[in-house]
Amino acid sequence: MNILFVDASARKDSRTKILADYLLSKLKGNIETIKLSSQKLMPLDEQSLAKRNALIGQKRFDDPMFNNAKKFIAADVIVICAPYWDFSFPAMLKTFIEHINVGGLVFKYGQNGEIISLCKAKTLYYVTTMGGYNPTDFGFGYIKALANTLYGISDTRLIKAEGLDIIGNDIDAILKKAKTEINNINF
Ligand SMILES: Cc1cc2nc3c(=O)[nH]c(=O)nc-3n(C[C@H](O)[C@H](O)[C@H](O)COP(=O)(O)O)c2cc1C
Repeated sequence: MNILFVDASARKDSRTKILADYLLSKLKGNIETIKLSSQKLMPLDEQSLAKRNALIGQKRFDDPMFNNAKKFIAADVIVICAPYWDFSFPAMLKTFIEHINVGGLVFKYGQNGEIISLCKAKTLYYVTTMGGYNPTDFGFGYIKALANTLYGISDTRLIKAEGLDIIGNDIDAILKKAKTEINNINF
């Protein structure tokens, strides 16, 4: 089992990372980590997009620009760690997505224009923690939509802890409850 861990946490004591590490300790397999705060990916711009389009046109996927995408398509399980920021997730995760969503590598179009996934993974775990309580989550909702369409992953699972920045809340108890939910997952 190849597990790809996409870490979009941004703090040393990240609660999201604590939960993601707990989940990873329960999964069996080789873990490859992509720590986005270390990669410092830049959003695609005119220059990088032109370079990428030229490489895609020549099917030159050996360029390092495609390394993350190649790790993504080869993984059996994907674990995304993303704190809830501004109703979704940190921009570095969106930048990662821009970089991996490469036509001809991660997905392709069929003869009738249908999307055909080129990813191996069947399960994606999305781990998040939130300062408050949020009925709208454009973070997981967005990743789930991508997984269901481009990545061909129908089994998407959300692990979340809410209310961590509410004064008076028992943070340890909230994290413990989330860990119990992880314990109860049918891996
Ligand atoms: C830039 C930023 C934006 C945030 N936006 C929200 C938000 O929209 N809603 C919310 O409930 N909490 C928000 N929070 C609080 C975080 O979701 C919360 O503190 C979370 O537990 C942080 O995860 P971490 O401990 O892994 O860093 C935000 C925090 C930061 C730093």
